[in-house]
Amino acid sequence: MKTKRSSVKKSGVAARVRPLVQALHAYVPGEQPKIRGLIKLNTNENPYPPAPAVLKATRAAVDGRLRLYPNPTSSALRAKLAKMHGCGPENIFIGNGSDEVLAYLIRAFAEPLSAVTPTTLGKATVQYLWPCYSLYPVLAETHGARAKAVPLLADFALPTVPVLKRGGEWDFDAALSLVTTPNAPSGRGYSREELEALCKAQKGVIVLDEAYVDFAEGHSADLALKYPHVVVARTFSKAYSLCFQRVGYCIAHADVVAALDRVRDSYNVNGLGQVAAEATLDHLAYYRKGFARVIRTRERLRRELSGLGWKVLPSQTNFLLAEPPGLPAKAWLERLREKKILVRWFSLPEIQQYLRITIGTDAEIDALLRAVRAVSRAG
Ligand SMILES: Cc1ncc(COP(=O)(O)O)c(C=O)c1O
Repeated sequence: MKTKRSSVKKSGVAARVRPLVQALHAYVPGEQPKIRGLIKLNTNENPYPPAPAVLKATRAAVDGRLRLYPNPTSSALRAKLAKMHGCGPENIFIGNGSDEVLAYLIRAFAEPLSAVTPTTLGKATVQYLWPCYSLYPVLAETHGARAKAVPLLADFALPTVPVLKRGGEWDFDAALSLVTTPNAPSGRGYSREELEALCKAQKGVIVLDEAYVDFAEGHSADLALKYPHVVVARTFSKAYSLCFQRVGYCIAHADVVAALDRVRDSYNVNGLGQVAAEATLDHLAYYRKGFARVIRTRERLRRELSGLGWKVLPSQTNFLLAEPPGLPAKAWLERLREKKILVRWFSLPEIQQYLRITIGTDAEIDALLRAVRAVSRAG
């Protein structure tokens, strides 16, 4: 049956959408272009494919069972992750990407603004050290909670607890606090000690979003097992080359996991995603080689760009934030795109002088460097 689009327009249904939803600004994901030959260094995907055994296991699962609902609690995957993190399955929650885990955390812990008074505003507050993953405010606002950005220090450093206290902006009792660690978009890493100091001072639930942690020098997963109000979010998307499958998870106290289980959709993690993530955990050695390769390439790119006059920030992720010389960053974005290299530029005032470059294969990075040299020569 043909749908008449215009009839939707005339129906007045748009006016019936909740005012909160009408006012929302959707998250803007990086472009997924279909242009042949374009080198895609804009969305922090892993340049290397999943392990051959993961592809094989996923293919082998494409059979009559597609008819059936998947395991509703991702129990086998939960058990494997629990073993890996030295905890029980009751400490692991799996989501359709870590995006979904973050959304459920907000659903479980933050009140909508309509349910609070000025004196209980903290119960509706979702705060985050900014700049960070720009989905956080979108998720908070979708829920009707209060999204509150508190700035990181000028060089994207984590403010210490006394600095946060003096600033008076950070709410130590907020319903939910989020820290992207290592930080995106800057790539800056934070030590376990400084994160623990913040967690200790925080009374409300605090989420350490470790989406990029496999490319970092250390991690803080144990804090989620040490403190009941600390949650560590992870993803199979970046380091484990499974963006397409949408699997993320968090490590948390059993009471947090039980709350998330109450607010989640019944079959929130698709079956093929569960299969692929389980197989991934059986082949960690393959992935560890990949992390080392990405880190080597990252450091080479950092050296080479610095040599070409770029101001490159240190990174513990699979991307670099770098300020190009001469032209404004947006112009560089366009010039590089003309040369079939796609990187990311954000219009945010805090970072608009930078480009964010995902670490690709060595060949892709060589192509990027050739393009950079050509743009510099053209002036
Ligand atoms: C900091 C951070 N956290 C979480 C995510 C979400 O990852 P996913 O939903 O693919 O697991 C991303 C994706 O870009 C991210 O950058």
